[in-house]
Amino acid sequence: MDLDRLHEKIRLCQLCDLSLNRIKAVPGEGPCPAEIMLVGEAPGREEDLEGRPFVGRAGRLLDKALAEADLQRYEVFITSVIKCRPPDNRRPKRHEIETCRPYLEAQMKVLNPRVVCLMGNVATQAVLGKQGVTSLRGQIWQDRFLVTYHPAAVLRNRNLMKDFVSDLRKAKMPKD
Ligand code: URA
Repeated sequence: MDLDRLHEKIRLCQLCDLSLNRIKAVPGEGPCPAEIMLVGEAPGREEDLEGRPFVGRAGRLLDKALAEADLQRYEVFITSVIKCRPPDNRRPKRHEIETCRPYLEAQMKVLNPRVVCLMGNVATQAVLGKQGVTSLRGQIWQDRFLVTYHPAAVLRNRNLMKDFVSDLRKAKMPKD
């Protein structure tokens, strides 16, 4: 399936109850194919309104971190595990993650990224089946997956910014 058709399917998806409260589904955006793919948790209020990933406060921090890592936002494909906003930004439930996961897998297949950056515990658990970003971060797993902090965690603790930027830099140049 091509990316446009896949994203149309996501925009119209009604496979779980998150579709009942959303304004817009947020498939993700960026180049196709993509060298680098960034995967967050789930859309928040602003993403739900705009239908675009990481356009709220966490997104502004992500833009800043990307710039510090010498990456432009338009160079990377940005998405989240869950494509619709959970009510009150609650954590996605396990069945929601399972229901949405085939969309992320299909995106990875079409985009064929060299590196997939898993930002935060939800993305790390959904893709690698592992917990504990603090101990897993900064390393490439299975030759492809780089675990790092979620930008919202960096917003809560600015001391994490340095490692977050260094992880993004590693996604750009894994051998450095
Ligand atoms: N947090 C996410 O995980 N994804 C978004 O798109 C926005 C905030």
